[in-house]
Amino acid sequence: MCGIIGYIGKRQAKTILIKGLKRLEYRGYDSAGICILNESKLNLTKKTGRISNLSNKIKKEGGVGTIGIAHTRWATHGEPNVVNSHPHTDCKDEIVIVHNGIIENHDALRKILEKEGHKFKSETDSEVVAHLIEKFYAGDLEKATTKALRLIEGAYGLAIMHKNENKIIAARRGSPLIIGIGKDEMFVASDVSAIVENTKNIIYLKDNEIASITDKTYKIKKLTGKKCDPKIHEIKWDISQIEKGGFKHFMLKEIMEQPEAVTDTLRGKIKNGKIISNLPDELKTKDIKRVVITACGTSWHSALIGKYFIESITRIPVEVDYASEFRYRDPIINKDDLFIVISQSGETADTLAALKEAQGKGAKTFGIVNTVGSTIARETDAGIYLHAGPEIGVASTKAFTCQITALLIFALFLKQERGEKIDKQLISEIKGLPSKIKQALKDSVNIRKVAKKFKDNTNFLYLGRGVNYPVALEGALKLKEISYIHAEGYPAAEIKHGPIALIDKNMPTVFIAPQNGTYDKILSNIETVKARQGKIIAIVNKKDSKINKLADQVFQVAKSTSYLSPIINVIPLQLLAYHIADLKNLDIDKPRNLAKSVTVE
Ligand code: M6R
Repeated sequence: MCGIIGYIGKRQAKTILIKGLKRLEYRGYDSAGICILNESKLNLTKKTGRISNLSNKIKKEGGVGTIGIAHTRWATHGEPNVVNSHPHTDCKDEIVIVHNGIIENHDALRKILEKEGHKFKSETDSEVVAHLIEKFYAGDLEKATTKALRLIEGAYGLAIMHKNENKIIAARRGSPLIIGIGKDEMFVASDVSAIVENTKNIIYLKDNEIASITDKTYKIKKLTGKKCDPKIHEIKWDISQIEKGGFKHFMLKEIMEQPEAVTDTLRGKIKNGKIISNLPDELKTKDIKRVVITACGTSWHSALIGKYFIESITRIPVEVDYASEFRYRDPIINKDDLFIVISQSGETADTLAALKEAQGKGAKTFGIVNTVGSTIARETDAGIYLHAGPEIGVASTKAFTCQITALLIFALFLKQERGEKIDKQLISEIKGLPSKIKQALKDSVNIRKVAKKFKDNTNFLYLGRGVNYPVALEGALKLKEISYIHAEGYPAAEIKHGPIALIDKNMPTVFIAPQNGTYDKILSNIETVKARQGKIIAIVNKKDSKINKLADQVFQVAKSTSYLSPIINVIPLQLLAYHIADLKNLDIDKPRNLAKSVTVE
């Protein structure tokens, strides 16, 4: 949700900032802006739409200088026009800020500041920060910002400059922010991807910390004034992992990367038929009485599959909650509960808020996270990294299959920790998983042909049962977010309680129909839809003759244990959504109104 970047050094700032903004564009792309500081002059350029619009504009009129801050916006307060674009300035245009997050008390602060004579230009919540700093400014930007931030409620990642000070002030609460340390140059950014080609030495700012950064130095303090001694982390991945590598879209690249991504999730986790773990002792407990999982979007679908795994493998009861609902219903959390949060980005505000709520109630917490060093990864007591590599496409794909893999490993680990034997056959099937994913990916050309036939349909129904019901939800989510076609996921048996009324020749139904325990039931669900002239697309196992005859189109995948089937079955659904959206010429990696990392509640 909005990306920010800052540079201070010897090189031309605008080139570095525009490149960095392009890497951050997945965080929001309603508008973008940049401010370059040179000889006590602030040169501000803003443009609606994509970074390329801003880049074209600054080629003609952008400032020269070696200090600057920039922003790509996902609008929350105020429509995405030039005035509402960041950077924002104070009344005298001497202080300039870029902000990611939401200032919750902006209205109250704005009223006070307006009474004091401040003139606001935009409708944003963010602008209040510039005016509040102006109010306290007496020749020291760091001091004024500290005073201002003590009055601010809500979430922020901020980069701030004053025309008379050759430095960048960075501050964080709730929204991610990092400092990159180079040779005679420093960076500030919302995430590593924006600066990894310039430096691999990173400091993750913590909540309520404020940093004063020059080209050679950084000084970090708490808002209380206490000095901090930050740890420098070395980034292990490189720029090639965030390039498209010859694929038309990041989403397609990430779909195709899944055999390797799942292999990386599994790496080092299984040895001699046992699950290897480096979990701290307090989590190796046999006393977990209940597991609660919260997450959002695709990660929530993984959570539903995780419930199935943990309950079936360990018999420990599991509850799954939308992170956004969890803390608003006074949830019951006990000390012997294990609270799991799942998040690709590790920065989702709703998930983070749910985590804090559970921590406040004394639960042990466990994170299943992809982004190394992210807030959720750092705030949880223990966890598993997916090691899926950076996921750039807004539609989550490889993170989903890796999350399910990690959840299965975790469920087996819990069983093992309770002194019970884990199924050797399942372990050997897990090892064969990447090759089954590879086989499923080979159907891409066929899936594109089917996509051509269905791309103009305006509604889809996705149906699955048991562990494949969340796969139906995920298939529907993929289609709606990138192709803008309305799609609903349902447990297959539920259609007779309502959705069947929608079935006619214009309503394609996608069935997830592997040959497992509920195969015969799904078969009769297919018959029911067929009897009402519904068009049927079915994900089936190879050599399935019955559904082959009934369905209009089938996508064949390798047969597997039901535990692995969600991972294999979702592949054709990801590809179907991708090809439909591509055939409709849509902006697949940056679908309208969405952002990759939702850091606002
Ligand atoms: O980074 P997270 O896993 O916490 O993100 C959660 C959702 O915002 C995310 O899965 C979203 O639903 C994706 N766009 C789905 O493709």
